[in-house]
Amino acid sequence: MRAVVLVGGFGTRLQPLTLDTPKQMLPIVGKPMIEHVVEHLSKHGITEVVLSLGFAPDVFQATYPDGYCNEVPIHYAIEPEPLDTAGAIRFAAESANIKETFLVLNGDVLTDLDIKKLVDFHKETKAKASIHLIPVEDPSRYGVVPTDQSGRVTGFIEKPPHGKSPTNWINAGTYVLEPSVLKQIPIGQRVSVEKETFPALAAESQLFAFKSETYWIDTGTPATYMQAQIDLLEGGVRGNSHKGVDPTSLINGEVAESVIGADVVIEKGARIERSVILKGAKIEQGAVVSNSIIGFDSHIGQNAAIRSLSVIGHRVQVPNGTELNGMTMAES
Ligand code: GDD
Ligand code: MG
Repeated sequence: MRAVVLVGGFGTRLQPLTLDTPKQMLPIVGKPMIEHVVEHLSKHGITEVVLSLGFAPDVFQATYPDGYCNEVPIHYAIEPEPLDTAGAIRFAAESANIKETFLVLNGDVLTDLDIKKLVDFHKETKAKASIHLIPVEDPSRYGVVPTDQSGRVTGFIEKPPHGKSPTNWINAGTYVLEPSVLKQIPIGQRVSVEKETFPALAAESQLFAFKSETYWIDTGTPATYMQAQIDLLEGGVRGNSHKGVDPTSLINGEVAESVIGADVVIEKGARIERSVILKGAKIEQGAVVSNSIIGFDSHIGQNAAIRSLSVIGHRVQVPNGTELNGMTMAES
């Protein structure tokens, strides 16, 4: 089976990290997010990945110039302009000449979903489209999906106001689609799969939902981008053996529950807790980084305190003694 992976968004909620690096090319414990996604797909028998690209396609092409990612062949489908999720699906599927049942993924989701079970469910219902649902505490950030007893989707409400969700089961961003769905998507314009295509399929009783409470996270916000990595560490919820600290980093300060990239320097008296420090960054003497993200090659000056979901972009020089709480800072 082939999979279209949507990776063309601007990653706005992760700016300034995503100003020049697409979200799916940011590292998750040492390797780009897209490689984790493709690895999961290849374990479940996906033979080709169609990357649906929009923003900064060259970053993907430069990283995988031979057209392979994790040994899986990649087809690059580059939109001339952002087509939104359904427009992107049609464009990518046609560009790769897909004429059979195929998989679609939001490329910023990390999950242990058993894809075969979703595909088997899809074959049983004989619907035009099947989607994976996951329960969450606050559905208002997601596509909320009520169903009947048989799994038939009875509505699709993208990002409803807080407290107005009919259910806490949400669209988890993995879909199985019949090629006939493509013709229902208007061509060459922005079309949202969540706001247009899925509600239309639900109205035709052609959209079914597969509920599965497996590991799942959308990495698209600073909090979840960090959480996805902490979950992968030794002792984390995914039971992995990642140590989190790259062996090429130089650590002379204290590090707790954090992910430290290659060539990072943590000077004496500096403290890093529950944070992600990307490749080449330097944290100088006495600085504290807590619950925050530091971009590639940034320097945090002596005795600075970066806390509470602050996000420092790439190549930023943060002056000595700077205090940031829940703030962003970009390259000037
Ligand atoms: N090619 C292309 N073109 N890709 C796009 C475009 C576009 O115009 N717009 C967004 N994408 C990609 C993003 O890069 C991302 O991988 C995926 O589509 C979903 O976009 P997000 O911006 O991450 O959406 P979201 O997280 O707010 O909501 C979506 O995901 C939730 C689950 O994680 C929706 O599908 C929700 O319904 C869902 O619950
Ligand atoms: Mg997302």
